[in-house]
Amino acid sequence: MRKPLIAGNWKMNGSLALLETMSQTLSSARISSSVDVTIIPPFTLLMSAGKMLEGSDVELGAQTLHPEASGAYTGEVSASLLSECGVSHVLVGHSERRTLFNEDDQAVLVRVKAALDAGLIPILCVGETLEEREADQVETVVLGQVRTVMDALSQEQCSRLVIAYEPVWAIGTGRTATPEQAQQVHAMIRSWLSGKDPALGEGMRLLYGGSMKADNAADLLSQPDIDGGLIGGASLKPDDFIAICHAAG
Ligand code: G3P
Repeated sequence: MRKPLIAGNWKMNGSLALLETMSQTLSSARISSSVDVTIIPPFTLLMSAGKMLEGSDVELGAQTLHPEASGAYTGEVSASLLSECGVSHVLVGHSERRTLFNEDDQAVLVRVKAALDAGLIPILCVGETLEEREADQVETVVLGQVRTVMDALSQEQCSRLVIAYEPVWAIGTGRTATPEQAQQVHAMIRSWLSGKDPALGEGMRLLYGGSMKADNAADLLSQPDIDGGLIGGASLKPDDFIAICHAAG
């Protein structure tokens, strides 16, 4: 049985004050131990978040990483620097990194490998644009993104990944994929994973992201191949984020 994971991607938002409020709200929320919860704030808040969350069940994630271990890469952050903040998970290949920062599948792959080498859990983000969906390219695009990474990893490395399916047209738009639409793509990804290795298909957590909110989370999370959510806007509102965590429990 796959343990649900709810991860909140703050993107370039939030503050130390929100971090303190979120930390207190999460600690008093009595979220079921059957749900894993991860918050993913901006880099500048990671060290404080790591200290605030120390000893709690809430895990800490980063929004991206540089693939090199160290060096002259002004503005970048390595996996080892993230680990020093108490980070356990890291998003790789978020659609905003792919489109706004030109991260192609190879750039995503080297970042996944760097995360794995440092003992972090990569959350590999995949998803199609509206144009690709309307051109009936969902399978080609999404499985292409998954395959490029997973065919370059060992079986053991693959087993440490989490995949987040985020239809680009649902991110930040309020236009959520229907539970049926999301389930269809998740089932397709799981089927591909199972064809590669039955244990991988059975064990890999597949998160949905794209306008998951408190009022639609239960329907999405009730789908057999949706094992959690990657939450953007709603993760900045403590009560809404808690409601989504409860819906997963
Ligand atoms: O990484 C999660 C994010 O892309 C989804 O954003 O605001 O649609 O929940 P949002």
